[in-house]
Amino acid sequence: MSQRDPAAEQLNEYKKSSFAVNGEKKNVWLFSICGLVDCVGDQEQKSVMTTGYGTPVDSKTSTLTIGRHGPVLLQDSIFIDEMTHFDRERIPERVVHAKGAGAFGYFEVTHDITRYTKACIFSQIGKRTDLVVRFSTVGGESGSADTIRDPRGFAVKFYTENGIWDLVGNNTPVFFVRDPMLFPSFIHTQKRNPVTHLKDADMFWDFISLRPETTHQVMILFSDRGIPDGYRHMNGYGSHTFKLVNAKGEAFYCKFHYKTDQKIKNILSEAASKITASDPDYSIRDLYNAIHSRNYPSWTFFIQVMTIEEAKNYRFNVLDVTKVWPHSDFPLIPVGKIVLNRNPSNYFADVEQAAFAPNHMIPGIEPSADKMLQGRLLAYSDTHRHRLGANYLQLPVNCPYRVGVINYQRDGPSAFHNQDGAPNYYPNSFSGPEECPKAKIDPFDVNGIVDRFNTADENNFEQPRMFWNILKDDERDRLVQNIIASLQNAADFIQERAVQNFTKVTDEFGSRLRNGLKIALKNKASL
Ligand code: HEM
Repeated sequence: MSQRDPAAEQLNEYKKSSFAVNGEKKNVWLFSICGLVDCVGDQEQKSVMTTGYGTPVDSKTSTLTIGRHGPVLLQDSIFIDEMTHFDRERIPERVVHAKGAGAFGYFEVTHDITRYTKACIFSQIGKRTDLVVRFSTVGGESGSADTIRDPRGFAVKFYTENGIWDLVGNNTPVFFVRDPMLFPSFIHTQKRNPVTHLKDADMFWDFISLRPETTHQVMILFSDRGIPDGYRHMNGYGSHTFKLVNAKGEAFYCKFHYKTDQKIKNILSEAASKITASDPDYSIRDLYNAIHSRNYPSWTFFIQVMTIEEAKNYRFNVLDVTKVWPHSDFPLIPVGKIVLNRNPSNYFADVEQAAFAPNHMIPGIEPSADKMLQGRLLAYSDTHRHRLGANYLQLPVNCPYRVGVINYQRDGPSAFHNQDGAPNYYPNSFSGPEECPKAKIDPFDVNGIVDRFNTADENNFEQPRMFWNILKDDERDRLVQNIIASLQNAADFIQERAVQNFTKVTDEFGSRLRNGLKIALKNKASL
């Protein structure tokens, strides 16, 4: 027999390791204890199948019918229990980042950063905090291929003793747009045309070329980093500017970086197309097999720090998520390690139901005024209440299990931690939970004119130019070729507008694109 990898062997492993459901042998109907042993001869070691309400199922292969050929009886509650649950198996997929893989592990502090933050997770060198990570692609559906050109999500949920901290980042340090109002439109252009139900180059490049602040992220996306080799060989970034607050109440701006210890590895376009055809689940398989084989992936966690005063005088808006902070001005400060060492025991429960939200922060870590981040503070918990229900935080993968959740929220669908007889109103005289003034945010001063400010033109090309300048010749060739392969499918006037934008990065970039598009057109005509 050919060599099978751990992912392929999963069912055999289950068979070898267990005959009981969820390991809870004593609560499971076993043939040997339920008095049905006579019916099964020598198969006493198997557990008995039950309905959802726990009664034994006599047949999972035949409905209850009047006569051999039907009809089926309404009193067949085994069939009804089975079928109506099946009918409800799917929940809405994530509106973005629908395809993904996840794993559990821990974060360990290696360096002291308590002068910047009082966040409990960083309180002591050597301290470990459990976490779950979900990696993802962005634009495709939950059945789409892993090896497409797309940013990758890198979302981390830390289970701290002060509650959940979610750092919901990507594999790129920047994002496409600066104002959250643009996000739904931007995402629509990455998805399917509402008439043809096809991906649409006009939609994509029309938006990109009309919003030149996308240039930096688009160049990263069409460079070699646009298709990472699985999820283990890419970096992660919190991307936004966040605020850290220390025990003295001093605030700092900060960016989070998690750098792969496996080294960056990417897949070039042609090889990626082949994998897309032969193994669309390449990245999920790679992660599962690596962890199963105890080849645990890890990332070194860094921060960049800037004082609030430095930010006021810096030469660009440091809250702009389309820009990086130069390392020469704000060097990486090592903090710790992320290690992934446990595969999910059930994909749906642990990964599909995982719900990350940038507004889940702990004392010592706060949002900055970055408009995109502010937009995200709303969107995620909102979509979770739609996707998973009002009590999504009670699901095991999401619940802050190191903290007893005690508050005044009650009821709603699937409320199984409903706080018994505790008062459900505040204030009260009956020992309900009290406020914790120490947890208040760092007070800050804001003033300005209330208006809608257009962010289309805020130094869009300086950092893309720096990016072009650090690329080697062959990397520039591939960047140009990758853009041409996509842009050639857009309408002529959109191609022209996109080339004009890229020309503002460098003349060379623009002219190479223009010439390449001409050649592509000729090649098409000669087909
Ligand atoms: C205004 C801007 C944005 C909005 C409104 C937004 C909204 C969303 C929504 C609605 C989801 C689906 C969540 C779910 O169903 O579980 C999502 C997922 C995600 N977003 Fe965003 N997003 C924005 C920007 C960003 C940025 C800038 C990043 C990275 C720096 C990012 C990273 C992610 C990741 C990693 C996921 C997947 C989380 C998971 O694995 O479950 N998003 N986003």
